[in-house]
Amino acid sequence: MRITVIGCGYLGATHAAAMADLGHEVLGMEIDPVKREALSQGRVMIYEPHLAEMLERNVEAGRVRFTDSYAEVAAFGDLHFVCVGTPQQAESLAADVSQVESAIAGLAPYLDRPALVVGKSTVPVGTAERMARVLAAHAPAGSDALLAWNPEFLREGFAVHDTQHPDRIVVGIQDGRAEKLLRDFYAPVLEDGTPMVVTDYATAELVKVAANAFLATKISFINAMAEVCEATGADVVDLADSIGYDARIGRRFLNAGIGFGGGCLPKDIRAFVHRAGELGVEDAMTFLRHIDDVNQRQRERVVHIATAMVGGDLRGTRIAVWGAAFKPDSDDVRDSPALWVSGQLHLRGAEVRVYDPRANASARQGFPTLSYADSAVEACRDADLVLHLTEWPEFREIGPADLDGVVARPRIFDGRNVLDLDTWRSAGWAARALGRR
Ligand code: UDX
Repeated sequence: MRITVIGCGYLGATHAAAMADLGHEVLGMEIDPVKREALSQGRVMIYEPHLAEMLERNVEAGRVRFTDSYAEVAAFGDLHFVCVGTPQQAESLAADVSQVESAIAGLAPYLDRPALVVGKSTVPVGTAERMARVLAAHAPAGSDALLAWNPEFLREGFAVHDTQHPDRIVVGIQDGRAEKLLRDFYAPVLEDGTPMVVTDYATAELVKVAANAFLATKISFINAMAEVCEATGADVVDLADSIGYDARIGRRFLNAGIGFGGGCLPKDIRAFVHRAGELGVEDAMTFLRHIDDVNQRQRERVVHIATAMVGGDLRGTRIAVWGAAFKPDSDDVRDSPALWVSGQLHLRGAEVRVYDPRANASARQGFPTLSYADSAVEACRDADLVLHLTEWPEFREIGPADLDGVVARPRIFDGRNVLDLDTWRSAGWAARALGRR
């Protein structure tokens, strides 16, 4: 099918490339000229495993190209996916949906034949219904310009896989014609046995934020348990393994550590709380404020522990930080717990040297006062403390012997609970983690 993708950031670029790869003809709309030029040459400006190869392959094959014209978008295809960002507003916890509004307002006047606009962006519940009214009012095609909401659940680091092999497809619709079009469009994915839930707008919008709220809750739950473990001498990893064997609970997203960050979970739960307030059901969502608080506490706890490990005063100390991205296999530093901690340590007087296999450049832009090293070992030169804050596999390969004669003091803190503390301790290091003996 001939489809268009409006907004080619993380979500849109992946959707455009992945759908072209499944055999559709794709026109991407991107207003940022630098991004658009890069995409047109088959390059992505973010690090996401397999995305660059897939985009390049499909640009070369002529299955995907990019534009900045709504007129061209409307003329090209009959299915238009809206993939623009909905960041947190500067002055409130609410999501900023202005990019969604301008995408639909920009496209509508050009829709002069039957078309389906499919929102994929994460939006506050109620947005789709509002956007359907905008479409109906401004599209020359009138009631033949349909709207569906089809939330995207991809994880960074696995974006390509998740787009082509999703756990489920959820579509919120008001008109059966939209379901038919989406079933045809997703046929290659549905043939794999992927379940498709067809529902109303509000449910589809809520599924996305509910899923993220649940994941955030799991993480904050285990992090709260980590604090109890520390107070009692218990071990949170054994605890997570043990409760995780219960199929009703499951082991995934029970990794205790410095908490969740990124461009989705933190802002989505805040926007959800804000929207619940507008809907008069704030009390039902109060627990999400606690989830956010527990998450924030993890970062503060790391700062306290690091301060204690260097003897109570950060001033004049040198601290090595392994990891800057909010999670491994990504160069995304939005709301990164690792950088939050690094920034705080620096503000309190430590010299902080960061190394991330992929995110040094993006970290430097946001945190120019930190120093950056070209390797994990180099970051540790003369360090009084090493902090492991993003669990890239390469950090697990480093042993105490690799840092012999490199660090000033043999002290390490594992903020992700993946290092073998016994190995470090038996080599004479002071080694700590969250919720572990
Ligand atoms: C998330 C959702 O998983 C995805 O479905 C949605 O579409 C977008 O938001 P993403 O932001 O890519 O995806 O990251 P995710 O893998 O969910 O991790 C979020 C954060 O939680 C990371 O900072 C990660 O380090 C942290 N995390 C995850 C934990 O601290 N412990 C865990 O057990 C799992």
